[in-house]
Amino acid sequence: MNNVRIIGTGSYTPDNIVSNDELSSFLDTSDEWISSRTGIKNRRISKGEGTTQLAVNAARKAIASSHIQANEIDLIIVATMSPDNFTPSTACEVQREIQADNAMCFDVNAACSGFVYALNIATTYIKSNMAKKALVIGSEVLSKISDWNDRGTCVLFGDGAGAVIISEASEEGIMNFHCKSLGKLSQHITCGARDLNNHYISKQTDKYIRMNGQEVFKFACTYVPASIQKLMEHSPYSLQEIDYFVLHQANKRIISSISKRLKIDINKFYMNIESYGNTSAASIPIALDEMNRKKILVKGNKIIIAGFGGGLTYGAGLITI
Ligand code: COA
Repeated sequence: MNNVRIIGTGSYTPDNIVSNDELSSFLDTSDEWISSRTGIKNRRISKGEGTTQLAVNAARKAIASSHIQANEIDLIIVATMSPDNFTPSTACEVQREIQADNAMCFDVNAACSGFVYALNIATTYIKSNMAKKALVIGSEVLSKISDWNDRGTCVLFGDGAGAVIISEASEEGIMNFHCKSLGKLSQHITCGARDLNNHYISKQTDKYIRMNGQEVFKFACTYVPASIQKLMEHSPYSLQEIDYFVLHQANKRIISSISKRLKIDINKFYMNIESYGNTSAASIPIALDEMNRKKILVKGNKIIIAGFGGGLTYGAGLITI
């Protein structure tokens, strides 16, 4: 099996920064309520850019950072739960824009676990010699599927995209994954698509994100540490040897509870939720790109990424830099 490494990262978020105070100017909420329960202070909200545009901008930065040409990419996977279209896929639209004419392209929907799932798939393609260089993107415009009259959900989400380029390599960089789904708990996070509206029937669908917050909180605090423990069963390292934990940025209290359950110092958990809110599939690659640009990541670092969310889905991956 081939070795696989991350060779470049990129991210892009809309310019429009929306603070908790700004939300309280049109919603019955407060900075105190939002920040004490979630750790979120600001989020980026699109004033026109779609999911594809955010993905393209993040992809261009990842390609520049990896010093490759777009036509060397032979696989593009976009993780998203908020695509602009049913078809073409976001990945095919990205391919057109960046002229990655040699790639196979498709989208993956595993909600907030989407990036971990997509990276797992792309890694498997390269390990099994079906691709050599892959562009893996998480991109979301959650503001278009958030109910802006529901203070219980819309304050949580933000828009953004992050991307990585992974490549066949001489040294191992992406070790393994543990990904699972819990379809029996699917109704804890939902968002309908189109109405069923044809010659025979007209049935309305709820087109906004609905969430059973407390159940999702419990799910994340239970299944994510268990997934990380499972991942480590097939790892050459101990949990204590891991340098950074980059978890899906949904809630500061969830991350803090997971750090306690794993008995790992909270300072090893990278957090930027304060600035972006929950950007679903984009949150982990945005964090990885920030860490890369801040030069926090150094060769030899061992990182665990972990996502969780709608599906319900969860998953963790072990990466060395
Ligand atoms: N501002 C002010 N008050 C709010 C509010 C807001 N934005 N949203 C809800 N409230 C109110 C509710 O109406 C309720 O009021 P009531 O007691 O008068 O009925 C009260 O706050 C408590 O609501 P509840 O939903 O029970 O709050 P909570 O303590 O469970 O916190 C979450 C809500 C969403 C912050 C919390 O459940 C959570 O973080 N869950 C995980 C969600 C998540 O991360 N999902 C994404 C996973 S990918």
